[in-house]
Amino acid sequence: MDFIIDDMIAIGQRIASAQNRKRTAALEYARDIHEYNALVVQHSLAHSELASLLGVNRNKLHELVDEAIDKGIIEKPQKDKTKYYYTLKHVHAMMDWLEMPRWEDEYKQAVVLAVANLKGGTGKSSSAIHLAAAMALDYTIRPRTVVVDFDPQGSMSSIGTTVTDDDTNTITAVDIALQDYEDGVAQQLFGEGATEIDVISYSLIETHISNLHIVPALTHDQRFDDIYYRLPEEKRPEFLAQLKDKLVAKLKEHYDLVIIDTGPHNNPSAWAAIEAADAVLTPVSPRTLDWDATGLFLRTIPYYVKNFCPSAGKNVKWFKVGAVNTDKTHNRDKAMLLSIMQQAGTFALSNTILRTPAFEEANKKYVTVFDLKKKDAETTPKQIDHAVDSVKGFADEIKMSLAATFGVTDYDA
Ligand SMILES: Nc1ncnc2c1ncn2[C@@H]1O[C@H](COP(=O)(O)OP(=O)(O)O)[C@@H](O)[C@H]1O
Ligand SMILES: [Mg+2]
Repeated sequence: MDFIIDDMIAIGQRIASAQNRKRTAALEYARDIHEYNALVVQHSLAHSELASLLGVNRNKLHELVDEAIDKGIIEKPQKDKTKYYYTLKHVHAMMDWLEMPRWEDEYKQAVVLAVANLKGGTGKSSSAIHLAAAMALDYTIRPRTVVVDFDPQGSMSSIGTTVTDDDTNTITAVDIALQDYEDGVAQQLFGEGATEIDVISYSLIETHISNLHIVPALTHDQRFDDIYYRLPEEKRPEFLAQLKDKLVAKLKEHYDLVIIDTGPHNNPSAWAAIEAADAVLTPVSPRTLDWDATGLFLRTIPYYVKNFCPSAGKNVKWFKVGAVNTDKTHNRDKAMLLSIMQQAGTFALSNTILRTPAFEEANKKYVTVFDLKKKDAETTPKQIDHAVDSVKGFADEIKMSLAATFGVTDYDA
């Protein structure tokens, strides 16, 4: 006798393979080397732009650039007719050489920010990746930034573009976190002589923003939660520290800002992400159901963190609720925003990320709104500008707020 239940499986498999085909096609496009180069050029500065960033005149910049090339600090920039293209790599190398301010001059430590909320589709992943890109592109702090994708279901928003490997060679955060708990890919690499740092470096995906890297996720990462529940209770706290100990603590030695994107759950993965974090950002879209789910998340998650995580939540020094996907011309959204501000009080960010189709387009193309080319985008230039401005405002407020908690204050030390 046939079981209807088996038909469910068949349909599920059909959906998955259709999804995979779409995803592969989109990734191939996003990771195409021409696309990548086009994006690198798009984020490049012209001679006059670099001069103004460095605070020198154009002639002085010619001298500096020649000297930097002589000293091997930068490679000769590309020139197209009369226009020079200084890529982000050039810009950062020049700024480092001239000892211009960077993260470590302003902040006491590298900061790990977990992005978490209970509801899927609220804009967590979009916020995480856009916040990361906006921070990385901020020349006043220039954080070396890495996004750790810790949501097995949501790895759709990654923007890594130079990947040449297929998924079979992908090493995820969960592969690294589970290295002492399974005979998996990490163990296999150790067997071939790789060190812990090697394995982490293999997992990193570069992007067209030179100081922004990604540690990807795959659906198989779901086993993290299964393994947790199979452990005897006394072993569980140590397990929840694995993401921190095996990956995040090591990333902190090489990056200034580590952003962990989590899944829409109150589960061991979410607790492990919070255990690894110094700061927690809860994005919420101004819908009644989303805000209710956020309420549930905020009422329950501290209980789990305090009772199950080895640091019992003492590691979290900063927390904010950030409204995202907001439409300020919409009365319903305006009313909800007011409630969010009232109820979250000083824990609410006042800047929001606006709802515009630019985010949908960016998501579909595996890029950020900073990368959309106005002349061949489906979205209008105005929508792209609104998207970019709102992300910048949101990121700026977070940057300032993080400075209030983690900023350098003992200037004499
Ligand atoms: N500000 C925004 N404006 C328009 N669409 C958005 C915005 N933020 C997110 N989206 C869209 O909403 C959907 C869910 O976003 P996502 O970031 O993946 O949410 P989550 O990670 O919380 O599940 C995606 O299709 C995304 O493109
Ligand atoms: Mg997500």
